[in-house]
Amino acid sequence: MIHATLHQLKVFEATARHGSFTRAAEELFITQPTVSSQIKQLTKAIGLPLFEQIGKRLYLTEAGKELLQTCQEIFERLENFEMKVADLKGTRQGQLKLAVITTAKYFIPRILGSFCQQYPGIDVSLKVTNHQQIQRRMMENQDDLYVLSHPPDSMDLSTQPFLDNPLVVIAPRNHPLAGKKKIPIANLDGEAFIMREPGSGTRQAVQNLFYKHGVSVEVRLELGSNEAIKHAIAGGLGISILSQHTLISEGKDSELTVLDVEHFPIKRRWYVAYLGGKKLSVVAQAFLDYLLQESPKFSVPPVNLLAKV
Ligand code: PGA
Repeated sequence: MIHATLHQLKVFEATARHGSFTRAAEELFITQPTVSSQIKQLTKAIGLPLFEQIGKRLYLTEAGKELLQTCQEIFERLENFEMKVADLKGTRQGQLKLAVITTAKYFIPRILGSFCQQYPGIDVSLKVTNHQQIQRRMMENQDDLYVLSHPPDSMDLSTQPFLDNPLVVIAPRNHPLAGKKKIPIANLDGEAFIMREPGSGTRQAVQNLFYKHGVSVEVRLELGSNEAIKHAIAGGLGISILSQHTLISEGKDSELTVLDVEHFPIKRRWYVAYLGGKKLSVVAQAFLDYLLQESPKFSVPPVNLLAKV
């Protein structure tokens, strides 16, 4: 192993990730024979096969799996070291990988914007997706930080709540219940409803509440995007329940309104989370501090203070 080079480990890591010599070669801008010869030398240095080939696909052996995990740890530490050195030089730079749930897109890009102006050397990747996909990304340790409103209990995570994320009932402005006070939740029974897709945390919270109160809406449409749902509501296809933050840029002429239904808003919070035991990079730690400091600027007014949204 002592004879293995860092380059060989990089080639191995890319090959293992893609399960293919060709795709690893493409990613690293080297030829496919170079990839196979590097893997061959590495295998020789280790003394055990790292891959098993079945058809066109490569599978990791036990030794390969162990090596992949070791490589990922080495690269993470090296990346961290690079960032620390950059920090010591006074030039914060490096990579920041974030994954956030769909509703966080209403404020995270703004916070990122001012953060990146302060530290222009930082290379950011931002993935916006639903709770289920965030959980999958967490299991694969794909990102530095996650923003979500329901951290899974089954995972070892460091979490910190930072902002309220209330869910409200949104209807077209001309809905018969618009403007009424304290509407009993039973009045939603039979309403045409637009639901988020399976895997969405919003959907889960809505279903839990409906179940608790025996409400059964008529799901007319299922959509994977909060913005698409808002348009569908405005188009008269039904009502829905979404984070109040989705209304943040609705002006006075909005076609949407919030219904004052009992048991609403559903109270939730956003959490910033990272994998337990993970050593945050200098950049990730700086962003985490900045997020906690800046996020209060993005809180929404209490629903009863909402003029006609
Ligand atoms: P979702 O989460 O995109 O999984 O519905 C949004 C939220 O919880 O605010």
